[in-house]
Amino acid sequence: MSFSILGTGRGVPAYAMTNDELSTMVDTSDEWIVQRTGIKTRHICKEETMTDMCVKAAKEALEDAGITAEDLDLIICATLRGEYITPSQACVVQREIGAKCPAFDVNAACSGFVYAFDVADGFFARNRVEKVLVIGYDNLSNTMDWTDRSTCVLFGDGGGAVVLGKGDDLLSIHITAKGNPDVLYAPRGENLSPFAKEQRKPAIFMNGHEVYKFAVTSLVKGVRKAVKDAGLTMDDIDYVIPHQANMRIIEAAADKLGIPREKYICTIGEYGNTSAGCMPIALDVARREGKFKKGDIIVFCAFGGGLTSGSCVVRWAMD
Ligand code: COA
Repeated sequence: MSFSILGTGRGVPAYAMTNDELSTMVDTSDEWIVQRTGIKTRHICKEETMTDMCVKAAKEALEDAGITAEDLDLIICATLRGEYITPSQACVVQREIGAKCPAFDVNAACSGFVYAFDVADGFFARNRVEKVLVIGYDNLSNTMDWTDRSTCVLFGDGGGAVVLGKGDDLLSIHITAKGNPDVLYAPRGENLSPFAKEQRKPAIFMNGHEVYKFAVTSLVKGVRKAVKDAGLTMDDIDYVIPHQANMRIIEAAADKLGIPREKYICTIGEYGNTSAGCMPIALDVARREGKFKKGDIIVFCAFGGGLTSGSCVVRWAMD
């Protein structure tokens, strides 16, 4: 027994910052950003908080699934940085929506949503739960260095949520980690210890070229494995929901995999890279556009800090 997706939702702040606006803050241009990444805007929290957006996504997903917060048996939030070190973001959301169930966070950076699926699958397999809320959300505007043009043009705030119920629509799942705090990392903020040897800026640091290579390789390997483990071929895939880090990464992986580009759901132009929030945003956008029909085969695939990766194949269970 695994799970089926019963409902989706998303929470994205209202303010969409254009590349031209960013060009007034750092030495960059709309032309450079669009050509190198495909990003046109990213949404940034101004009035809203991360919790507001997670709660919005959660409520939409609950409504879509036709259940209430009291029906939930578990809440998992995939995020690399909640509003607090403790309580977890999942616990904060639990209180706001009025749920009574256990709640915790999973940090696998941009692969977090797939990691959370795998954790949820374990709870279903052990018969511990009937309804699970999985949120994927990151608020990177408070973590990136707004003076570093090589990173600040890439990221935004936002995420989404799904309600999972008992079912058999998770057809395969595969997660990996290759510990590496050198090519992509964000240190914690101020160290309060009187014995601290150094203070490190809590911003995102990245070797773009290394991450690019890891991204393409892990997407291709991950999708091949997940599709094979599901007993399917590339021809059986109806949609791919990739992590939205760079349009060129998605296109390079698409060409190697031989799944036609039009099957990839891409929201990077509007939202940029929202880390663990990317895939649930893309899922909800496509669902609300009416793209999916019952029985469609959807592949999720992600990579990110860790370095982590995750891919899975899900059969769409909703009408
Ligand atoms: N605007 C204008 N110029 C910029 C720029 C910006 N925002 N950022 C970098 N440049 C410059 C560089 O300084 C460099 O200039 P130089 O040739 O004079 O030295 C030039 O553009 C090319 O830089 P380069 O790093 O080679 O660009 P790239 O084609 O590799 O694209 C990334 C850079 C970051 C977009 C790309 O490497 C990438 O997407 N990597 C993966 C990142 C990722 O996925 N991160 C998230 C993981 S979850």
